[in-house]
Amino acid sequence: MGEGTTVAVIGLGALGLVSLKNLAEEGYVVTGFERNGYVGGLWNYTEEDKTSVLQSTIVNISKERGCFTDFPFERDVSSYPSAAEVQAYLLNYVDHFKLSPNIRLNTCVKQVRRDQVRNKWALDIEGAGPEHFDKVVIAIGMNSIPNIPVVEGIESFGGVCVHSRAFKRPDDFVGKKVLIVGLGNTGADTATSLIGYAEEIFIAHREGTIILPRVVDGKSLDHSVNFRLTKLQDFMNDHFPDFAEKNLNKFVKKIQDKAFTIDPKWNLSPAPSLKQSVPVVSDTLVTAFESGSVQPVSALRKVVQENAVELADGTHLAVDSIIWCTGYKTHFGLVEDEYDPTKRTTAQWAASRGSNGKPLPRLYQNIFSLERPDSLAFMGTVAFPNPAFQIYDLASMALAQVWKGRSSLPSRASMEAAVDAHHEWVCGLARRGSVYPGIVKPQEWMRWVNEAAGTGVDEYLGYGWKGWAFWAREPRFCNLLMTGIYSPHVFRVFDGKKKKWDGARLAIERANEDVKMKKVKLL
Ligand SMILES: Cc1cc2nc3c(=O)[nH]c(=O)nc-3n(C[C@H](O)[C@H](O)[C@H](O)COP(=O)(O)OP(=O)(O)OC[C@H]3O[C@@H](n4cnc5c(N)ncnc54)[C@H](O)[C@@H]3O)c2cc1C
Ligand SMILES: *[C@@H]1O[C@H](CO)[C@@H](O)[C@H](O)[C@H]1NC(C)=O
Ligand SMILES: *[C@@H]1O[C@H](CO)[C@@H](O)[C@H](O)[C@H]1NC(C)=O
Repeated sequence: MGEGTTVAVIGLGALGLVSLKNLAEEGYVVTGFERNGYVGGLWNYTEEDKTSVLQSTIVNISKERGCFTDFPFERDVSSYPSAAEVQAYLLNYVDHFKLSPNIRLNTCVKQVRRDQVRNKWALDIEGAGPEHFDKVVIAIGMNSIPNIPVVEGIESFGGVCVHSRAFKRPDDFVGKKVLIVGLGNTGADTATSLIGYAEEIFIAHREGTIILPRVVDGKSLDHSVNFRLTKLQDFMNDHFPDFAEKNLNKFVKKIQDKAFTIDPKWNLSPAPSLKQSVPVVSDTLVTAFESGSVQPVSALRKVVQENAVELADGTHLAVDSIIWCTGYKTHFGLVEDEYDPTKRTTAQWAASRGSNGKPLPRLYQNIFSLERPDSLAFMGTVAFPNPAFQIYDLASMALAQVWKGRSSLPSRASMEAAVDAHHEWVCGLARRGSVYPGIVKPQEWMRWVNEAAGTGVDEYLGYGWKGWAFWAREPRFCNLLMTGIYSPHVFRVFDGKKKKWDGARLAIERANEDVKMKKVKLL
């Protein structure tokens, strides 16, 4: 890479911000474009018609595990920050890394096209001329285009019918009989936020689910995952994949059953495997089921009258409002068709019942454009049960190293073959049930990203000579990394291709001390 290579990052939610920072850190001349007048994306609650958290949203991953690799939350923020605290954290991140000069707010990018003459990307900016960049990162968010299923008779429904994107204020539903469609994290949050406002709340679901609390016995549930455990899981997965999958599912179900008494009448079992879905994280949903303030019902089949629906089990239900919590569709319409990775969704995927009408992006490691891997990348299309901030911190570190030429990508043909094989696997999951199009095999993806980003963790915390040497020199710290909280700072402890963070060790020690000292309390 020559000095002065320019990169445009489009969208400055959490993922755009971390990409901006990780590329700037490696010497790129980076400009971030954001159409809103603020950064942070969906974490800033807004009543406007765009995706945002609810005022009542609390994160579903602890701050000790959900932060960026080189920037902890402030010490006095609780383990489960509110949405406003996450938004404040993102603004602090911008200040700390002095990103403001690289940020252009109120700037909407209308189109990204290839300028063959200049051999650059041209960005058409609303109300202004095109601007040219060597490389482009698309971070416009995966949660902007509502995915709404086609339901027979819906045109005759007389009440309010909205997607969760437009659901902002529970008091709009005072005295209503509300049907929520979809039992995922959003469905659970929406349902419980309506308690005390709506007269009746139903939540319709096709599949089962696991429900996990945030906190068990004053201990944050995600703090019980440590590095050693994930390595053990990797080993099992490599050698006994079916056994490992069953075991993990059994283990998580046990945690659920210890925390809650699940009534079989709710039809939550069998839950889909964690290989293809994430659990619902909620501290209040089960209590709401028990008290009847939220009623789980079977899938929505059709609308039969202007104020009644029929469910898959034949029941008729009187409802006057429907809220679709059925997720979003990936939409990269701002990228010229030739480079839009959602334009080549296969018939096999589209026909699988778990695809739910969503497109399946064709990207190498769910990040790199196959047509232009050297200059076009996407953030937001990797999914597995792991904190989003950590995933994309690693993804953008890897991206920076690949684009610098310190890590390499295989040939175009090998990448195409890898994507074909990956999609084959995803389609297999989609035949079993619903699946996030961004789903990856956690172990394989993590191994790749650690290697490409050059974090050193697999070497220094592995069984090779580097691992033994580190353990011999720093037995206590090594032990803390292996068995303490699985902190994202571990990825910045070691020198490697990417920049290490000198504060990583102290931050890890502090996080472990802090949670030992105080029992975790929810707001
Ligand atoms: C309701 C909700 C709750 C969530 N809760 C959690 C949680 O508790 N824990 C967790 O880890 N994850 C959670 N997530 C996952 C969440 O998606 C990620 O944490 C992350 O914040 C997503 O960031 P993003 O940058 O991809 O998207 P966004 O925050 O949507 O940001 C995208 C940005 O791009 C901008 N943009 C779009 N198009 C253009 C354009 N053409 N030109 C310029 N700018 C553009 C948008 O204005 C926006 O600011 C939640 C998601 C939702 C929807
Ligand atoms: C949140 O969005 C509003 C506009 O809806 C904006 O005025 C405000 O500055 C934003 N807040 C933060 C903390 O970014
Ligand atoms: C947290 O909630 C978000 C949005 O609802 C979801 O995408 C994510 O998978 C959830 N995480 C976990 C661990 O359940």
